Amino acid sequence: MAKIKIILLFSLCYASTSLGYFKQSETNLIVSTPLGQLRGTTLTSRKGEKILSFLGVRYAEAPIGNLRFQPPVPVKPWNEIYDATENPPLCPQSFVDSTKEDCLFLNVYTRSLENEKKPVMVFFHPGGFYEGISSSEFFGPHYILDQDIVLVVPNYRLQTLGFLATGSKEAPGNNGLKDQVQVLRWVQQNIASFSGDPNNVTICGYSAGGMSVTLHMVSPMSRGLFHKAISMSGTAFGVQPIISDQLRLAKKQAQLVNCPEEVDNGLIDCLKSKTSEELSNNLEGYQEFLYDPIWLWMPVIEPDFGQERFLVEHPIKSVVNKRVADVPLLIGVTKDEFGGRSYFVVNNQTALKEFDENYKTIWPIIFGYERDSQFSLNVSEGLRKFYFPGNEIDESKRQGIADLYADSIIGFGSNRGAKLLTQHLNSKVYYYQFSYEGEHSFFYIPGTNDTIPYGASHHDDLFYLFYISLRTPMFTEEPESKIVDNLTTIWGNFIKTGNPNAELYNWPEYDLINQQYLDININLKTSSFMFEERYESEDVITKVTARITKRMGLK
Ligand SMILES: *[C@@H]1O[C@H](CO)[C@@H](O)[C@H](O)[C@H]1NC(C)=O
Ligand SMILES: *[C@@H]1O[C@H](CO)[C@@H](O)[C@H](O)[C@H]1NC(C)=O
Ligand SMILES: *[C@@H]1O[C@H](CO)[C@@H](O)[C@H](O)[C@H]1NC(C)=O
Ligand SMILES: *[C@@H]1O[C@H](CO)[C@@H](O)[C@H](O)[C@H]1NC(C)=O
Ligand SMILES: *[C@@H]1O[C@H](CO)[C@@H](O)[C@H](O)[C@H]1NC(C)=O
Repeated sequence: MAKIKIILLFSLCYASTSLGYFKQSETNLIVSTPLGQLRGTTLTSRKGEKILSFLGVRYAEAPIGNLRFQPPVPVKPWNEIYDATENPPLCPQSFVDSTKEDCLFLNVYTRSLENEKKPVMVFFHPGGFYEGISSSEFFGPHYILDQDIVLVVPNYRLQTLGFLATGSKEAPGNNGLKDQVQVLRWVQQNIASFSGDPNNVTICGYSAGGMSVTLHMVSPMSRGLFHKAISMSGTAFGVQPIISDQLRLAKKQAQLVNCPEEVDNGLIDCLKSKTSEELSNNLEGYQEFLYDPIWLWMPVIEPDFGQERFLVEHPIKSVVNKRVADVPLLIGVTKDEFGGRSYFVVNNQTALKEFDENYKTIWPIIFGYERDSQFSLNVSEGLRKFYFPGNEIDESKRQGIADLYADSIIGFGSNRGAKLLTQHLNSKVYYYQFSYEGEHSFFYIPGTNDTIPYGASHHDDLFYLFYISLRTPMFTEEPESKIVDNLTTIWGNFIKTGNPNAELYNWPEYDLINQQYLDININLKTSSFMFEERYESEDVITKVTARITKRMGLK
């Protein structure tokens, strides 16, 4: 168990929970959609609203057999009444027993079926593109549906099954993201049946889901399918290279399941002969230092083989050239993000020694920047000078390691995104930091028996937007209830109007001069220049903006 927690999200204990926990049977809850009829079930929101819930709705044909490694195929209409009363299976991933390759389903939650036009939020789950879940037990609608919106939470393919990218026509990549596009197309065609307004759609995502949101902003496939965007703790603007293949991971996958490592030698046919469990159950095999890297599967800039391409150039290049959806954006981070992982380094003498002595090879692995080049060596040296002034690295430097984790994995990219998008969009950008350190956390300090939460960690804000019943009780009392009230009100306002402000608080839009952001804690307050010195140094050292805008032949 201890080990499972170290992976991004999931000490799921999924098998031990009862799927029927929330449900009251309401067998005559039927909705008619252009594709056919669905039977749903009901949940009750935190404030007592009835939530009409349609669980496990198929949005694409089963991506199995000949459809494995292919873009999603839209679901065909059906004649029977589709049973949408059970959560869908998880897409294949490690640490969960009962996954299914036939996993392209979504959950829809609405408060009425009265032909109204309510704003819609589509939420893309986190999990590094290698794990994650759409279930109502994890992303329960019980808090956010106290706002009168329609919520859609989909699965999408993960790992090799969703992101195999060999740079060749057999597997140009991004299928997991094309699944998300198919979800957005499904919303356009079907959400009116659930009282949703297809012209009032907000895409929201966390971590890999947040990165997905920023990718949809620049993807030609997603253009026109949404109207507002929320990128939580994840973007495509960080130090992680976005290139045209993921051959390194494809070869790794081949090694793990005894397939040939070369495409010309039958790599893909061999991968097609394996079961989905064989392909997906070996996440530990990808780890190169402790539990890192955190980012493994990534989007790719698809070479043109005549296919419909999700990503055609680097996202920064798209933004700078205004080939980007000009929609209101809410973007931000938690205060400590992945900083807790610093304990794994300082609590392990061998690891700490390697982290110090072999930093030029190990840091690019952990922190995800370019490997094996003169530039990479320069970045490692620059980061070392900045995060460890005096050059010594020992147990006493845990905070430096924590900051480096927080900034390189998440924070820097979000800051870069806020800055680039506020410059290049006409729409407003709102920037936040979630700094509330609650009793519940996704990261407890090792050795404290899960009793001392570490700061405001990656995912911690999700506890107050969704009812994560696999982890916490429903929050009905302060202090947590106050955070739920504030967070869902702010998010709800933004989803409805593109402006997060309630009468009670005035959160100024982000701009390069004042650089104001909302600090979300037990009280809301405006601050400015978030981690300015750290983020500016990281930009200077990694030259992210300069490298992409200059070297990629931008005008
Ligand atoms: C300590 O670090 C070493 C070197 O990275 C690693 O091989 C070992 O598994 C780690 N030990 C623990 C208990 O995590
Ligand atoms: C590495 O740093 C040196 C010294 O700062 C600089 O002259 C050189 O151009 C850098 N090389 C790369 C590839 O960034
Ligand atoms: C953790 O829990 C175990 C078993 O309940 C107990 O023996 C141990 O002393 C606890 N450790 C700490 C640091 O609280
Ligand atoms: C935040 O929550 C508190 C307590 O629930 C409430 O009094 C306050 O109005 C909320 N502020 C905003 C901006 O929603
Ligand atoms: C979206 O929905 C909200 C709430 O119903 C409404 O106030 C707003 O005008 C709608 N926006 C558009 C563009 O239709």
